[in-house]
Amino acid sequence: MDDKLQEQVLKHLDQNDAVDSNDLAKALEVDHQNVVGIIKSLQCFDNLITVEPRSTKKWELSAEGKQVAQNGSYEYNIFSAIPPDGISQSELMKKVPNSKIGFSKAMSNKWIKVDKDCVDGPRCLRKAENVKDLVRVHLNFLAEGQIDQIDAKVLSDLKKRKLASETVIKSFFVKKGKAFTTVLEKPEADLTAQMLQDGSWKSKTFKDYNYNALGVLPQSGHLHPLMKVRSAYRQIFLEMGFSEMPTNNFVESSFWNFDALFQPQQHPARDAHDTFFIKEPAVTNQFPMEYLERVKKVHSEGGYGSQGYRYDWKIEEAQKNVLRTHTTAVSSRMLYALAQQAEFKPVKYFSIDRVFRNETLDSTHLAEFHQVEGVVADRSVTLGDLMGILREFFRKLGIHKLRFKPAYNPYTEPSMEVFGYHNGLGKWVEIGNSGVFRPEMLRPMGLPEDVNVIAWGLSLERPTMIKLGIDNIRDLCGHKVDLQMVYDSPICQMDF
Ligand code: PHE
Repeated sequence: MDDKLQEQVLKHLDQNDAVDSNDLAKALEVDHQNVVGIIKSLQCFDNLITVEPRSTKKWELSAEGKQVAQNGSYEYNIFSAIPPDGISQSELMKKVPNSKIGFSKAMSNKWIKVDKDCVDGPRCLRKAENVKDLVRVHLNFLAEGQIDQIDAKVLSDLKKRKLASETVIKSFFVKKGKAFTTVLEKPEADLTAQMLQDGSWKSKTFKDYNYNALGVLPQSGHLHPLMKVRSAYRQIFLEMGFSEMPTNNFVESSFWNFDALFQPQQHPARDAHDTFFIKEPAVTNQFPMEYLERVKKVHSEGGYGSQGYRYDWKIEEAQKNVLRTHTTAVSSRMLYALAQQAEFKPVKYFSIDRVFRNETLDSTHLAEFHQVEGVVADRSVTLGDLMGILREFFRKLGIHKLRFKPAYNPYTEPSMEVFGYHNGLGKWVEIGNSGVFRPEMLRPMGLPEDVNVIAWGLSLERPTMIKLGIDNIRDLCGHKVDLQMVYDSPICQMDF
């Protein structure tokens, strides 16, 4: 802050008791804004000054108005330029500046006249004998601040001619307060050890505590809302005794992503329109070959009571690397590994991670998103167990009403879409897909015949968008996300 200016302002007040900030700025020859800054800072001292905002209207001459005030109005100059015996109009128009305006004003004032019948063209003559340049007189009154000398009609005429304008000037009227002083002592903000030791605290003034002040928000990282919802899901799975599958392989062979899941090689999902194929490395060469042979057989010839798809299964198709299109690719690897153990043990697995699809991007679809996946393998689990586990899972999320609708997946039979009643939206929303894995998928892996596997998958983005009231997925994920949204998003509660 400008201490010198502060001192000058206080001194001025000391001598004058009260002052308008505009006059003060003029007297001190500084910018008005600077004076206002000082006044604001002085207001922080108790009862030092009183401040009243003011607005005053003031008439000012425009640049043109100033010239007219000095040199006379255009109409007066036209009148004056006409000699007693007249002058040709064309010559007159050349004699004075702004002659066009001057001429028409002088005509309507009836100061001059035109003789159109003259042989050498129209001739201008004086009509009035003596005229008074009132425009100039009025402008001079205005310039001297003698506004009461001019009536309203004249003022509005001057304004219309852009010779003068009215401006509003904002200022502060400052008076000495009860505790006015020219020597300011800055109140101390802290009581220091030094003050206690030398006893100087006794004579010091201290700043009052501001109990209304908000604390400074500590700098910290903020979890993206998707990650908060992810940890809520993870928590539910852990509470239900599930363990997490390793999902750190975004690139997967078509074999594990499709073939192992009994998805035929001509299936449209395996098309480049739906799936991202990898160029480098384009293929995988290592597979458990005996298992691969069994997969090939179940697709092309059938087995385990199934007639298969009956087509010519090709390893070249299974070798193609893709960005995994679902986390069920991870489930197929995990179930195969489970089947390789000497003795079967029931498992409950889950995963929450990224998957990729070659989608047309729009407000609800991105090319990458997150899937939540649950898998339960045990002897004799049934469709009833699937429905029961799903009810329990969604109950923990706060969704109490569920509906199941028959659906189709190449790897599950039966398959069910899951709908949950959303209290906030007041309607049924699709929340997942589920089913009992087919024997055509499980038996080639080597799982015992009496082991069934139930599974389900859902999106992570969908419930997060519903929760945050976001209707465009691009506001939630991707490069256009507003970081303030991440910063402001509440700590997640899964209240559907
Ligand atoms: N993989 C399915 C999907 O991508 C979800 C699913 C998982 C369905 C497990 C049934 C069983 O939509």
